[in-house]
Amino acid sequence: MTEVTAALKAIQSFHSDLTAIRRDLHAHPELGFEEVRTSGIVAGALEAMGVEVHRGYAKTGVVGVIRGRTNDSGRMIGLRADMDALPMTEDNSFGHKSTKSGLMHGCGHDGHTTILLGAARYLAQTRNFDGTAVLIFQPAEEGLGGAKAMLEDGLFDTFPCDAIYAMHNWPGLPPNTVGINPGPMMAAADRFEVVITGRGGHGAHPYQTIDPVLVAGHVITALQSVVSRNVNPLDSAVVSIGSLQAGHPGAMSVIPSEARLVGTVRTFRRSVQEMVETRMRGVVEGIAAAFGAQAKLNYERMYPATLNTPQHAQLVGDIATDMLGKQQVVRDLVPSMGSEDFSFMLQARPGAYFRVGQGGAEAGCTLHNTRYDFNDDIIPVGSAMFAALAEKGMPLADR
Ligand code: NI
Repeated sequence: MTEVTAALKAIQSFHSDLTAIRRDLHAHPELGFEEVRTSGIVAGALEAMGVEVHRGYAKTGVVGVIRGRTNDSGRMIGLRADMDALPMTEDNSFGHKSTKSGLMHGCGHDGHTTILLGAARYLAQTRNFDGTAVLIFQPAEEGLGGAKAMLEDGLFDTFPCDAIYAMHNWPGLPPNTVGINPGPMMAAADRFEVVITGRGGHGAHPYQTIDPVLVAGHVITALQSVVSRNVNPLDSAVVSIGSLQAGHPGAMSVIPSEARLVGTVRTFRRSVQEMVETRMRGVVEGIAAAFGAQAKLNYERMYPATLNTPQHAQLVGDIATDMLGKQQVVRDLVPSMGSEDFSFMLQARPGAYFRVGQGGAEAGCTLHNTRYDFNDDIIPVGSAMFAALAEKGMPLADR
């Protein structure tokens, strides 16, 4: 038995305890920066394992520190899990269904938190590594930038990790399959708003107005040319408009003075991101000018792209192969145009973000679906991956 399979076997012996924690967290979801109960459970569990606990990072964040048998190398590895739920109403009827209406663990962060607790329990018992394992329980991954908030609170100043790792469950991969690639895993997510200002007036006398709704129509169409005509077809980008707001539905004969568009841009490469923003500005301002209107593009960079470093992605792939066999490891996983705030941590430290398959996509159990539920069968593999990353990333001298 290799060390990796030994870790998995040891963690499997307390799988039922972990499942109970996961289901309890699922039943009691909390929004970002409000994970008071969740972080209390995490801190309590860590303390019961004899793990040193630090709180006060990004309000509800918890950091556990486990020291290896030796620390000759001075190495430090960070393992991160997110803890927050989503503002959505669960449609499941099982026993551990959300007890809070309008709140649900629809992305499996209950599972991620449990997985990291499982790794903590094993690592605290065994401490078969040379260095320090830093367990990062992060709040507010869903749109609120909890990772960034932890960095701003000095996470890596206090715990200067040499490498960091995070995982996400993935319904599109079979259970207990690991997926990774050596580069971009998830896209940068930007938000934009276009404010078009014309001159309002009577719908029967449009010649007396500058109609911002007509301008908005042209802007929407022309913005689609940025991806199709400006982005190199070998690069990837998305421009999506999610909201168009102008006038009042009850005012059929009022031409409004303003129209607003809100949307998102997704890219992997910084140069593509910059080019898309520049082209969008040109299109928006140029089209408005052509109609005698004015338009302003407000462009906000929200989350950077999630970029693995090849060396750390390689270690994840090697450990997964050792644990699960080659056929259950995808080393060239296609990136997602979604985003992930672990990207902020990966901007600060090298590391890797990987997926653990949980299955169920074919049955509609996709992330952020109202019938989603984390698959408890994958907890031990997730925990063992984290544990092995600490052991293999900080090997004891005599091994
Ligand atoms: Ni998620």
